[in-house]
Amino acid sequence: MPSFAFYKNEFVPLSEANMSVMTNFIHYGTGVFEGIRGNWNAENKRSYLFCLKEHYERLHQGCQVLKMELPYSVDEMCRITVELVEKCGFEENVYIRPLAYKSAEALGVRLHDLECDFTVFAFPWGPYLPDKVRCCVSSWRFPNGIPRAKLTGLYVTNALAKTDAIETGFDEAIMLTSDGYVAEGSGENIFLVINGELVTPASYDGILMGITRNKVMELAEAELGIKTVERHVDRVELYNVSECFLTGTAANITPVSEIDNRRIGDGEIGQITEKLQNIYSDVIRGNNPKYLNWCTPAKRKGR
Ligand SMILES: Cc1ncc(COP(=O)(O)O)c(C=O)c1O
Repeated sequence: MPSFAFYKNEFVPLSEANMSVMTNFIHYGTGVFEGIRGNWNAENKRSYLFCLKEHYERLHQGCQVLKMELPYSVDEMCRITVELVEKCGFEENVYIRPLAYKSAEALGVRLHDLECDFTVFAFPWGPYLPDKVRCCVSSWRFPNGIPRAKLTGLYVTNALAKTDAIETGFDEAIMLTSDGYVAEGSGENIFLVINGELVTPASYDGILMGITRNKVMELAEAELGIKTVERHVDRVELYNVSECFLTGTAANITPVSEIDNRRIGDGEIGQITEKLQNIYSDVIRGNNPKYLNWCTPAKRKGR
């Protein structure tokens, strides 16, 4: 089944959504992206797009940072995305990649006087990480004083950290802030279970304010009565937690079994992590009526 893209204001086969090598954003990282999951629900034959509006609100905030005035509102981008997924018609989990970018075919390092555009495409994508992951703390640190929006150019540090981790035999990297506090994974936020409570780095650590992170905190409190403390986390604290997991649109909730070659808990999926995984997995598939308003349905046309 072919994938489609919304590109230059129309739907085209993904293979035809190609841009010129002169495009400004390719050279200077002047783009803002999102990752959205469409979770396939086989029983009622539709995909549920999780937190669609929140993703476009965050994209919009990133556009402000890069001085981009998109020709589409948040609501219009949501509508385009639903139409795209319906047009693709995949009967499996999909990943949706919106991108706002400096589309001018003009070189020169700047943000001003450059046109911008918006594209979005979808494709089938299963799990991003293994069922449980071995992590290392990376020697690559966040650049200081840079907005933590999903700016394409910022991800080079994350790519350095991820590849270093993989090439030294781990599954994922945990990055520290420039002050040496725990920040996040290369594409996920991090949670620790300490004395039965959740602990996660705070917004003042300069992390990306993950949408999954917010929803996990809400679900932990509402469904399990577990509060989350947002604070600085020291690297050494990681070694003595009873459970640790990563959250993200791509990773969902992924348990961490080891950090820097030290086993976390008994090295298996922790009890709280497992409960949250089960709750989350129902919610994102539209199987929990209480949280159905977090999901936007998309149904293949003609079914
Ligand atoms: C660096 C980084 N941190 C955290 C996250 C998790 O964010 P979200 O839950 O909104 O996908 C992501 C993924 O988008 C990311 O790239």
